[in-house]
Amino acid sequence: MITQQVLLRDAMRRLDMTRDAFADRIGSRRRALDSWLLPDESNEFRAMPEVARRFVQEILANAAPRVEVATQSVYPSDNPLVPGAPLRHLLSVDQFSRETAEDLFRLADVMQPIARRQKVTRVLEGAVLANLFFEASTRTRVSFGAAFCRLGGSVCDTTGFTFSSMAKGESIHDTSRVIAGYADAIVVRHPEQGAVAEFARATNVPVVNGGDGPGEHPTQALLDLYTIQREFSRLGKRVDGAHIALVGDLKYGRTVHSLIKLLALYKGVRFTLIAPPSLEMPGSIVDRVSRNGNVVEVRDSLASLADADIVYATRIQKERFAEESIEGYGAAFEINRALVDRVCKPDVVVMHPLPRDSRSGSHDLSADLDGDPRLAIFRQTDNGIPVRMAIFASLLGVDKLVQRSMRDAAWTPPVHIGPEDSVLD
Ligand code: NCD
Repeated sequence: MITQQVLLRDAMRRLDMTRDAFADRIGSRRRALDSWLLPDESNEFRAMPEVARRFVQEILANAAPRVEVATQSVYPSDNPLVPGAPLRHLLSVDQFSRETAEDLFRLADVMQPIARRQKVTRVLEGAVLANLFFEASTRTRVSFGAAFCRLGGSVCDTTGFTFSSMAKGESIHDTSRVIAGYADAIVVRHPEQGAVAEFARATNVPVVNGGDGPGEHPTQALLDLYTIQREFSRLGKRVDGAHIALVGDLKYGRTVHSLIKLLALYKGVRFTLIAPPSLEMPGSIVDRVSRNGNVVEVRDSLASLADADIVYATRIQKERFAEESIEGYGAAFEINRALVDRVCKPDVVVMHPLPRDSRSGSHDLSADLDGDPRLAIFRQTDNGIPVRMAIFASLLGVDKLVQRSMRDAAWTPPVHIGPEDSVLD
């Protein structure tokens, strides 16, 4: 039987209702609904009455089927996802419709007790992941590896070009075919746009794009959207009609390229783009997302964050610069507590894909917001685990087995992972 948290979150997503509206719909108090949604291990968790569960199941059974809107693919070999159909490779967010993204989030909700270390599973026992990172990474590589391990699989890693056979002139084709003989899934991060798709063409083993140069970072965008939905559910907001501000290096930042396309699957979204001169969002992406009643506004000052629901900051990707310069990217672009207090709405959510550049003069997202509930960056990184687990479970066809396979974990993790975590973490 699916857990009450999975059932309720799925229902709110499919009916596209805020918590208040949904509590109203099922005739319960918002406080009761909040307590049903908490993790089982929380002191305030309450079991949902059986009659309420049956009522929610009935509402879902009568809900209108959802309409499919997929993004247009720029990766010709991608197969767009059909609900229920197996995922072969994950290369671009273009493969997703709103419905298939939300199906993945439902599976991520199923994974939450494992990601929170309350439960364990061995559904991927015996499977091997090759985690090939030909570009710098800490969190993405470890997050993919940890997600695979938490499903019971094992991980082989390699990092950097210097120690790879590519440094001896090996083609992507050869590396891909060789690794496919060793592993059951492959994650690749590569400095060139399109290189991961080329990798995927040389193998039938599922390949996941862990970031291809300035191209895409689909799994980051999926975990970002999952985070936005969870934050909005708490705050009584919907992605349709939201105001999302993207700040920083929008030219080379692959996370924002994927995220804006994924968010454009929703309706009436207002995007505010704030980038230093020469680092603006590519025009082709702006054109593609300006549809469905979505509007894109390009601004040059953080004063435009005034009524944003999400402020998504990014690092300046100096390592990708050709002839660009960051002259003019001064203190006026820094997102810090004073700015958020002065300019933003009290319920704004501040996000960043990380890493933050904490060196002085970088003017990246300031650490002075740490511990502030408006800062969602560690909720984002935590959400990377269930979302990547859901991706692997789908790719390897064990998605239906997870729920039944769960057992209690034998050890107890700390209640708050970080000493500065806000109450929401
Ligand atoms: C980002 C990346 O590598 O694209 N990090 C990440 O994967 N979370 C962002 C960055 O490097 O600035």
